[in-house]
Order: sequence, then structure tokens, then C-alpha cells
Amino acid sequence: MRPSSTLLLVLGLSSTLTACGGEARSQASASPVVETTVAEPQYESIEQFESAAIKRDVPYVPTPQETVDEMLRLAQVSRDDLVYDLGSGDGRIVITAAKKHGARGVGIDIDPTRIEEANENARTAGVTDKVKFVQGDLFNADLGQATAVTLYLLRSVNLRLRPKLLAELRPGTPVVSHDFDMGEWAPDDHKRVGDDDIYLWIVPAKVDGNWQWKDAAGRSIVATIEQEFQTFTGTARADGDRYNLRNGRINGAEVSFELVRAGDETAPVLERYAGKLANGAIQGRITAGNRQAAWLAKHD
Ligand SMILES: C[S@@+](CC[C@H](N)C(=O)[O-])C[C@H]1O[C@@H](n2cnc3c(N)ncnc32)[C@H](O)[C@@H]1O
Repeated sequence: MRPSSTLLLVLGLSSTLTACGGEARSQASASPVVETTVAEPQYESIEQFESAAIKRDVPYVPTPQETVDEMLRLAQVSRDDLVYDLGSGDGRIVITAAKKHGARGVGIDIDPTRIEEANENARTAGVTDKVKFVQGDLFNADLGQATAVTLYLLRSVNLRLRPKLLAELRPGTPVVSHDFDMGEWAPDDHKRVGDDDIYLWIVPAKVDGNWQWKDAAGRSIVATIEQEFQTFTGTARADGDRYNLRNGRINGAEVSFELVRAGDETAPVLERYAGKLANGAIQGRITAGNRQAAWLAKHD
């Protein structure tokens, strides 16, 4: 995963400037007769002054339009969606979602100047009935209504945001990030547009914990699942026999795995399970050789 990005270049530049400032100060203090004048910053409006005083987690750098287009394509945004752009800048992502895909959108940005720009851009694009821009900290936003989320933040900010995304977004919600990944939460898809990386994750349902079901032969199975983002492993028991759950995958609310005898890494698959989680139960099919059976698993 490529570490370079326009955003990182911007951050690199600002840390170089800070370092130069520090060096100049230490030279000045070596000479007792140096007089220094510090220019007062000039602001043209209250908004500019407020903007300068804000503590941002990420500087403002807009996503190129062709990358915006690909982000929305990768998330399969449609007219049924409510797209949240966290750190929305001039509003281009939610405005494009509205204009090209007929979606509704919410942009959240901590900087009032960006919110003003975004509202102006929404008016120019004729989509004020579909989009809303809210000034605030993205970490305080309620994401429960979002059906797609877009990000152009930093990796460290993505990592801080990750638990909130997993807790608040519904299973199956696409999250798309320009240039920065989510650490151990591996992307479900990745695209490259010019110099930009785009990562896609589908929020997985939560399947961690204890489950019970009947296998294809009608025996009662008691299983414990350990989830790691969109993958899982597990152990199971039936009639005193021990089994492992292998190749566990979660795609939104869709759950699948293989059941094998425990204690043998190369053990053949006894049963394949595939189903959908809703209201604390998984319903689907079990395939054992050429036999099929209904599968209903209940969370303890
Ligand atoms: C890299 S820009 C991305 C802008 C836009 N999403 C795009 O892709 O064109 C990041 C934006 O996040 C905003 N931001 C930084 N920290 C924030 C925070 N804690 N809450 C909300 N917005 C924040 C900045 O003001 C900036 O506009």
C-alpha cells in the first residue's frame, strides 16, 4: 500500500516549515542584540479568522474529480443512497453523488469556510434539495442513517474512526477512502486512478460469540465464533465430536464458512454453510457432499 499522497505532501511541507522556524529561533537566541518582528496574520473576514483557529485532524486538500467519480462508482452509489462525506471540504463528493447518481448526501466539516463554499457549490450545481452540509467534528457525527461513507482523511485518522464506523454503520454499508487504508481491516476492493488509491470496505455484520444450530444430519451443534473484521474462525461441538470453522467470511450480512474435523489442518470439508444474518439469527443452506439442508443458527 503506497504511502505517498497529495495530503502527505501537504503535511510534509508544513512540518518542513515548522522545522525551519525552530532553527531560526535557536539562531536568534544565540545573539543578544537581534530584534525580531513577528508579522500579525491578516484576516479578511470573521470566517477566515475562525478557520485559522480551528484544530483540524486533516488539512484541506480536494480529491480530483475523476477520483471522486471512481469512489462513487466503487461504492455503487445510487438514487436510494444517503452518502456521508466525513471531512467534506468544498462538498464535491456529496454534490457529485447528488448530481450524477441522484443520491442524497450529508457533508460534515469542522471548518466554516469549507461549509460556506460547499453550500455555494451546491447552489451552483442545483442540488440544494438533496445535500446538506453540517459544521462539526466528524468524530461526533451520528452515522446511523448513512448508506455509504466517503473519506479523504489520513491513515491515523481512519484508524481512530474505524471503531465508530464498525459500531454505527449498518452491515453492508460501503466505506470508500481516497489514498488511506484502515490497517488490519483489509479492503474488500482496491482501485487505482492516476496517482490515487481508492479502498473499499463493506461493513461486516457482527457474528462474534456463541451460536447453536442443527447440522445436515440433524445433530445439535454448539459453536463459538471469533471475528476479525470480515473474516472469522471458530470451534464447534456435536455429540462429543470437535470441529473447526474454516474460511469464515462476512460480506455485509452474508455469512459463509466450512466445517471440518478438529485436529487436522488438511481435513476435508464436511459441510459448507452460507446464510444471511438478520435479527440475531442466520438463515441459509448447508451443503454436505451432494446433499442440501436448511440452516438456521441462533445467537446465544
Ligand atoms: C483532505 S480534505 C478532504 C475534502 C473532501 N472530502 C474531498 O475529498 O475533496 C479533509 C477535510 O477534512 C476537514 N476536517 C479535518 N478535521 C476534521 C474533523 N475533526 N471533523 C470534520 N472535518 C474535519 C478539513 O477541514 C478538510 O476540509
